[in-house]
Amino acid sequence: MKKLIAGNWKMNGNAAEASALIEAVEAKIAKDMDILDKCDFVVCPPFVHLGLVRAKLENVAMGAQNCSQRGNGAFTGDISCAMLRDIGARYVILGHSERRQYHKEKDETIAAKAQAANAEGLITIICVGETEEEREAGKQNDIVAAQLEKSLPDGVSEDNTVIAYEPVWAIGTGKTATPDDIRAMHAFIRGKLVAKYDDGDKIRILYGGSVKPSNAAEIFAVEHVDGALIGGASLKADDFMGIAAAA
Ligand code: PGA
Repeated sequence: MKKLIAGNWKMNGNAAEASALIEAVEAKIAKDMDILDKCDFVVCPPFVHLGLVRAKLENVAMGAQNCSQRGNGAFTGDISCAMLRDIGARYVILGHSERRQYHKEKDETIAAKAQAANAEGLITIICVGETEEEREAGKQNDIVAAQLEKSLPDGVSEDNTVIAYEPVWAIGTGKTATPDDIRAMHAFIRGKLVAKYDDGDKIRILYGGSVKPSNAAEIFAVEHVDGALIGGASLKADDFMGIAAAA
């Protein structure tokens, strides 16, 4: 399976910086096209930069960081899946821990958003992961199992869904889960997917949380790690592509 190298730009960058970043990433891929045999690329800019990033895409796909579960209408401040599709997004990140934390997004809302996204032909990147407290209490498998059970909509397949395991305590903290932690959790998630879906062995499972060029090789070497969801390091083309090179 090709690795999916996904950049989550979060709420960063002005228009000039977003343009420069996608240009730099595309330029690096253009110099080393063989990398496309090993990796698929997606970047997820803030909504307001989707149009300008789209205009510069060559070998990278584009995603959004959220969507509404509703169709177009009187929903001030929301962005529909149809709008994302129209502006050229192919992916949407859902259930990121920052959305769960700051916007109180519940599994049921995430499932409704995922359903709407899939209906519009978007591929969802659904994030799951335990907090530090939950891990210390040994509850990580229960937490992730419940998130998988409740935040995935009907009709999940390898074509419309990617799972991202992101331990909350590893996001933006510089703390990475150990290869053993990652191996155990990715095997656990794979088991759940295989038990529930016919193509559960082919649904990609990304790891996310302080992935950088220096730790990417050991993370990618872990079984059932099918790519990475990258926050901070996706804001520098050298780091983002350094992670891809490790794949
Ligand atoms: P990080 O973020 O790479 O900055 O830890 C990952 C994420 O939140 O997707």
